[in-house]
Amino acid sequence: MANKGLAKAPEDTCILVTGGAGFIGSHTCVELLNNGYRVVIIDDLSNSSEVAVKRVRRITGVTDDRLRFYQNTLLDRAAVERVFDENDIDAIIHFAGFKAVGESVHKPLEYYWNNLTGTLVLCDVARNHGCKNLVFSSSATVYGEPERIPIDEDCEKHQATNPYGQTKTMLEQILTDLYVGDNEWDIVLLRYFNPIGAHESGLIGEDPKGIPNNLLPYVAQVAIGKLEKVHVFGDDYDTPDGTGVRDYIHVVDLARGHVSALNWMAGRVGTGKATTRGTIAGEPAADGTRRGVGIFNLGTGKGSSVLDVIRAFEKACGHEIPYVIEPRREGDVAACYAAVDKARDELGWTAQYDMERMCQDSWRWQTMNPDGYASATE
Ligand code: UD1
Repeated sequence: MANKGLAKAPEDTCILVTGGAGFIGSHTCVELLNNGYRVVIIDDLSNSSEVAVKRVRRITGVTDDRLRFYQNTLLDRAAVERVFDENDIDAIIHFAGFKAVGESVHKPLEYYWNNLTGTLVLCDVARNHGCKNLVFSSSATVYGEPERIPIDEDCEKHQATNPYGQTKTMLEQILTDLYVGDNEWDIVLLRYFNPIGAHESGLIGEDPKGIPNNLLPYVAQVAIGKLEKVHVFGDDYDTPDGTGVRDYIHVVDLARGHVSALNWMAGRVGTGKATTRGTIAGEPAADGTRRGVGIFNLGTGKGSSVLDVIRAFEKACGHEIPYVIEPRREGDVAACYAAVDKARDELGWTAQYDMERMCQDSWRWQTMNPDGYASATE
C-alpha cells in the first residue's frame, strides 16, 4: 500500500502520539496542537497519568476532538486496530516504551517484550492503513562509550550496557530495515540527549515513580526537601571538575524538534539533497514528501557537569542543595554531548533555552506539583 504522505496543512494532518501522556510525549502534544495538528494519544498509563492529557487541553485550549485519548497498550493489537479505524492517522510519533535503565537489567523479558513487540504491532497495523510515516524516540544511549565528542550522527553505535538501551538500538535497526524492505516508509530516528525542564505553565513536567534515577528529578526532590542530598556519582572523570558531563536539553525544545521532523518529512524544510551521517535518502514522492530514514541528534551541543547542574538549580530555587560525592555509577560515560549542526541545517531546528531556564521551569513544576500528578484530578 502506498504511503499517504504528509503534503497537506497541519489542520488536515492527524498525528498518533504513542506515550503521549508521558514526559516528552505530553510536551510534544502541546507543540503539535499549538501548530494546528490533530492529535490522537494512545497511552497505557503504566508510567503516566491521564491528568497530563487534561493539562495539555488546559495549556492549549483544545477542548474538542482535535485531541483524542485512548488508554491502551500497543500490545493489544485489536485496540491499536480500532484507533486506526476510528482516526485517519497520517503519521506516528512513537514514544511509548519502558525506560528505566536499572529496572531493565532485572526485567529484560518485560523490556524486550513491551518495547519491541509494541513497536512491531504498531508498525504492522499502521502499514495496513497506509500510514508509513514514523518518528521514533531514540536516545544518545545508542552511541554507548562515544567515539568522539561532540557526538555526530556518524559516530559508530556501541553495545548498550542494559536491555533498555539495547531496545533503542534494536528498534533503530528494525525501523531502518522496514524502509529497506518497503521504500514507501519515511522514518525519522531522533536521538535525544538529556531532556529536563518542564512547560513554563508549571502544569506538565516529569513525574518519576519512586526514587528518581535521573539527575534532574533527583536534584529537584532534594531542593524541595523530599530527599536529603544529591549523590554525585564520581568526581574523578576526565572532565573539567571531575563529574560527569551531559547535554541537557529543555523538554519544550525537544518537543519542538518533533514538529520540525514532521516538516522535514513533508519536504517543507531541508536541502532536499541526499544528506550524510546515517541518513538513507530515498526518492521523494511525487508530492515532494520524503521517503527514507533520517537520523538526527537533538541536543544543545553544550556540556554541563553534575556540579554545574546543582549550582544552576540552587540559583533557581534560591537555596543551597546538599550533595555528597560517591563512587562512579556502573555504565556511565565521562562526557556526552551532541553535534547539533545536522538538525540545524536539515530540520531548521536549534535548542533555544539555557540551563538557567531549564532549572527555573523544572523548579516551578516541582513547587506547583510536589507529588507530581498523584494528588491531582485535573
Ligand atoms: C540515563 C541513561 C540513559 C537514558 C537517559 C534517559 C544510564 C546509564 N543512562 O542517561 O540510557 O537514555 O538516562 O534520560 O542510566 N548522576 C548523579 N547522581 C544521580 C543521578 C545521576 O551524579 O543521582 C549523574 C550521572 O552520573 C551522570 C549525570 O548525572 O553523569 C546524568 O545522569 P542521568 O540523569 O541518569 O542521565 P544519563 O546517565 O546521561
